[in-house]
Amino acid sequence: MKPYVYVTRKLPEEVLVSLQDQYEVEMWEGEDISVPHELLLEKAQKASGILSMLSDSIDKELFNQAAKLKVVANLAVGFDNIDLKAANEQGIAVCNTPDVLTDTTADLTFGLMMAAARRLVEADRYIREGKWKSWSPLLMAGMDIHHKTVGIIGMGSIGEAFAKRAKGFDMNILYHNRSRKPEAEEALGAQYASLDELLAQSDFVVCLAPLTPETNGLLQREQFRMMKSSAIFINAARGPIVNEEALYEALVNGEIAAAGLDVFEAEPIDKTHPLLSLKNVVALPHIGSSSVETRMEMMKLCVSNIKAVLEGETPKTLVNKEWQK
Ligand code: GLV
Ligand code: GLV
Repeated sequence: MKPYVYVTRKLPEEVLVSLQDQYEVEMWEGEDISVPHELLLEKAQKASGILSMLSDSIDKELFNQAAKLKVVANLAVGFDNIDLKAANEQGIAVCNTPDVLTDTTADLTFGLMMAAARRLVEADRYIREGKWKSWSPLLMAGMDIHHKTVGIIGMGSIGEAFAKRAKGFDMNILYHNRSRKPEAEEALGAQYASLDELLAQSDFVVCLAPLTPETNGLLQREQFRMMKSSAIFINAARGPIVNEEALYEALVNGEIAAAGLDVFEAEPIDKTHPLLSLKNVVALPHIGSSSVETRMEMMKLCVSNIKAVLEGETPKTLVNKEWQK
């Protein structure tokens, strides 16, 4: 009998075909709805491999019941949806999709920053609502990006790729990270700053850090108060890094000027959420890596990782380095 692989979301036929010759593949047919957790638990019990989405909770309960499971390949660079400790206890390989999405995610983050600064989404709505009566000097006047200071929280590969774009716009670059990045300092002129310094000095605060116990709830009321009242806050990392109530208050009270958000504490965000009532918020449905080319690369990488583990090889992009084949 062929090993069973469960895919938690509908993927294009050409991706599936590359798994089907060697494995019995089953896929959740939902395109815009997650597989119910109970069903995922049931499928996991007979699965040798799971191709998961960042919206699936791959928890301890799942790992404990999945007697045949050897590999979870997550279609994301982040893996905060996976209980790594439980995976390690069961000797299960966990893989992600770094590198292939770096430039694409940096592009989106830069675009989101530009959209928030130059009020692009608001301006589009303005036209569609028939409000444009004449050209006028301060119509939709926004904030400059060039020559401003950007503070990047989380200087991993995406942070660095973002900094490269910022350098092209003649921005002054600050960053905060667990470790110093001498190459980025050298190549991009990025300057290391404490979180407090970064918040106080930046015109744009851009969050690109992974969600970890250290970054969970990192930005609270106090942190927004440290920012300039003209600051624009961008989050393209993970929602729970930010206290959304504090962000809402900061925007409403004019403690910061605007926000661009690709991620939220709870996804999908409810359309009645207070943040969505604000004109100075640009909101996107977690699409950082979503170009056709990159999403295809990510899917192929997941398939390659699953095949590698099931064939007794080391996968290309293993998260739990302590895993042994
Ligand atoms: C997207 O958020 C990812 O982690 O790839
Ligand atoms: C704007 O279009 C200008 O000509 O200044």
